[in-house]
Amino acid sequence: MKKEEEFVVTPWEVRGKVDYDKLLRHFGAKPLTADEIALLEKYAGEVHPLIRRGFFYAHRDFDAVMRWHGDGKPWALYTGRGPSGPVHIGHMVPWILLKWFSDKFNLEVYFQLTDDEKFFDDPEMKLEEATNWAYENALDVIALGFTPDKLHLIVDTKDIRPLYPIAVKAAKKLTWNTVKATFGFTDSTNIGLIFYPSLQIAVAFLPTELRREATPVLIPCAIDQDPYFRLARDIADTLGYPKPTTLYSKFIMALTGESKMSASNPDSAIYTQDDEKAVKRKIMNAFTGGKPTAEEQRKYGGDPDICPVYHYHMLFDPDDASVEKIRQDCRSGAMLCGECKLKLYDKITKFLKEHKEKREKARGNVDQYRISVKLK
Ligand code: TRP
Repeated sequence: MKKEEEFVVTPWEVRGKVDYDKLLRHFGAKPLTADEIALLEKYAGEVHPLIRRGFFYAHRDFDAVMRWHGDGKPWALYTGRGPSGPVHIGHMVPWILLKWFSDKFNLEVYFQLTDDEKFFDDPEMKLEEATNWAYENALDVIALGFTPDKLHLIVDTKDIRPLYPIAVKAAKKLTWNTVKATFGFTDSTNIGLIFYPSLQIAVAFLPTELRREATPVLIPCAIDQDPYFRLARDIADTLGYPKPTTLYSKFIMALTGESKMSASNPDSAIYTQDDEKAVKRKIMNAFTGGKPTAEEQRKYGGDPDICPVYHYHMLFDPDDASVEKIRQDCRSGAMLCGECKLKLYDKITKFLKEHKEKREKARGNVDQYRISVKLK
């Protein structure tokens, strides 16, 4: 492998230019093909743009859970977030698909907020701070329109009770040897982080425990979370649980052009709490697939495939024709980056304006959604 082709993807780090096909082969997940998409269409009546456009591109047993659904058996949705800071619009993308699945299939959603994980992982993070972010981030999830009967929040340090017996059973099946190899832990990794995978795995089995019948989950998330669910699938059988199934996305491009947004550079992402001035500045300063001069761009056109501005149009515009036109006008040189950025600014500010209103309405309601409050 040549030096510039090297990349690293773990649940805690994404570095270099990601080769998504190579990553699949490395992890052993499958590409999402026309067959699986046709199955989804058969049961949902349509296919969400994020799947149609290939942003969600891989899976484990997605076809199996569709057939399970076809047999009229129960299933549920699961995803989560490590609350290390404010939510950016990239984080929201899998949650938008989550809401779509929940609506289309009338499914309950288990959403884990791993304040413990972020506390273990970041030497500077205070536990209270991570827990506080969990509550703040929960507002962004609720704002997508979930009702308390459909969305079950699990803040790890607050809602551990239903999870712990399952985590204990999972932990007994996971050896140091296995987790070391899977997550790259070393002798100086703290034991909190070493135990943590059993908690992320436990939620995949929680619906089965609560319903007292086999209830597999579908987990829509970014591909970097696969190591957890690979292990969950390995141990499911011996614990008497159905194997979790997954649907994996690529990473959101940073506005600055890197493969993934980073919390250390606030200009690489648009946060849900950014004001319009900040959104404008970030979009207008973004890296693009454009040419250095207007003249060259008119002549040769731009490259939407390396362009974060186009990437965001693709993610946030539900209208296929509109996205296709942006693509054509970029390639042909008919539209310059400035105009394209202003279009994106309009889309994003409209989305954020509505989102902020719903987010503030959710404030004070988080406990209604917390699983251990509901189980009392
Ligand atoms: N480990 C995830 C993170 O750091 C958080 C998480 C917990 C999660 N459970 C999940 C992500 C299930 C996706 C699916 O962000």
